[in-house]
Amino acid sequence: MIIAAVGDGAYKFVLLLHILTAIIGVGGLAMGWAHDTVARRQGGQAGAAILDAELRSGSSVPIRALYVLPFLGIALIVLSDDFFSMGDMWVSASFVVYVAIIGVYHGMIRPARKMVRDMMVTGGSAGESEAVLRRATTGTWILNGLLVVALYLMIWKPGL
Ligand code: HEM
Repeated sequence: MIIAAVGDGAYKFVLLLHILTAIIGVGGLAMGWAHDTVARRQGGQAGAAILDAELRSGSSVPIRALYVLPFLGIALIVLSDDFFSMGDMWVSASFVVYVAIIGVYHGMIRPARKMVRDMMVTGGSAGESEAVLRRATTGTWILNGLLVVALYLMIWKPGL
């Protein structure tokens, strides 16, 4: 059942939620590098505590927002009354970028933070933990780049 179209109140409300989840999600994760830097400078138990807080609470709301984001995107397509379609190039590309964002976070950033937190607790070498933590920082910058790509797709909608 079609209950709204682009420009309707319902559509705009879902768009607001979609943009909000994007800001909270990617925006929240984008700040992770600041905590990584402070943790690296502190080192030891204090550094481990900072990374632990980031792993347990700092990134938990952003990642949950990111899990909701694609459903709101799909809802917008449904609500657009055939103005947008799942087959549109920019929509397919958005899914690829979205999967890449989740992949970089779970495959690169989170494991690196966990590893360094454990190394700091057990007293591993500072040089080694610094090298691993740099992986998390690199991942965060990739994430920021993917955010720009996602925004390009959302705003310019290439192929539409
Ligand atoms: C997962 C796949 C995604 C789908 C299916 C999707 C779908 C959509 C749709 C249909 C719109 C409405 C476009 C309009 O009314 O002009 C939209 C807008 C938007 N999306 Fe997404 N989106 C996805 C991912 C993302 C991601 C990853 C981000 C950023 C992290 C994002 C951020 C935005 C923003 C900021 C807008 C507002 C653009 C504007 O109004 O000009 N979306 N999206």
